[in-house]
Amino acid sequence: TEYETIIVETRGRVGWITLNRPEALNALNSTLIREIVTAGKEFDHDPDIGAIVLTGSEKAFAAGADIKEIADKGYIDMYLNDPFKSWADFGRLRTPAIAAVAGFALGGGCELAMMCDIILAADTAKFGQPEINLGVIPGIGGTQRLPRAIGKYKAAELVLTGRMMGAEEAERSGLVSRIVPAAELLDEAAKVAEIIASKSLPVVYAAKDALQAAQESTLAEGLRFEKQAFAATFALDDQTEGMGAFREKRTPEFSHR
Ligand code: HXC
Repeated sequence: TEYETIIVETRGRVGWITLNRPEALNALNSTLIREIVTAGKEFDHDPDIGAIVLTGSEKAFAAGADIKEIADKGYIDMYLNDPFKSWADFGRLRTPAIAAVAGFALGGGCELAMMCDIILAADTAKFGQPEINLGVIPGIGGTQRLPRAIGKYKAAELVLTGRMMGAEEAERSGLVSRIVPAAELLDEAAKVAEIIASKSLPVVYAAKDALQAAQESTLAEGLRFEKQAFAATFALDDQTEGMGAFREKRTPEFSHR
């Protein structure tokens, strides 16, 4: 597939998506959204891909929805022709996604990072939901995923004031998995992705699925889901291999079966 606004590469078992609209700080226009979702789904359908890295530039992961594209829209445009509808599909990929964030991750950019499973932040990263300054509110998960990540009071302060927070504060509050020096961000993201991609693919899917259930359900429901998913891993060749390798004191060789 040919892309206009992103760069897509495969390195070993890792799929890379780099947002590439430098003239607009990677603002998310409809082309970019369509392309990210398409590339994400293509990687997701490829059994040779075990993890996805999503990244932007040194200056911006993404500065939010493309304000110039949506400024003149009305309620019915957003409701009936919702330009962000397909976004949800990115959040539903079964392949783990790592957001490697340097610079601005604002509005839809912060929300896109939150659709990923892991957020690695360069020390230059800045997160925020500045929609309130534009006379709108977050629309692709900001009011829902942010409170789940950093708690109600911290999320409310960010969403209601539009203030940005730096990498340190984001890590302290639980939005960020880990901070990395900016110069090492991509290498570190590659390492994490390669580690995940070296595990058994169906087991990784099960783990991601169960982690997602934790975000979407009560504790009782989540525990029931986990119990079934856990038992199901014992039907896999890779469980036999993983535990067999431990007993034989060797490295497992997963067949992704
Ligand atoms: C369109 C954008 C943009 C955006 C930046 N640009 N952000 N274009 N949409 N979200 C463009 C600028 O217009 C400018 O192009 C170029 O990128 C460089 O940006 P500057 O502003 O000159 O850079 P700087 O002074 O360094 O400021 C960086 C910034 C600022 C603080 C990130 O650009 C900014 O505040 N951007 C908007 C951030 C924001 O409000 N995001 C939330 C969007 S709403 P030109 O050609 O004009 O010079 C949202 C809703 C999601 O995300 C909900 C979906 C349903």
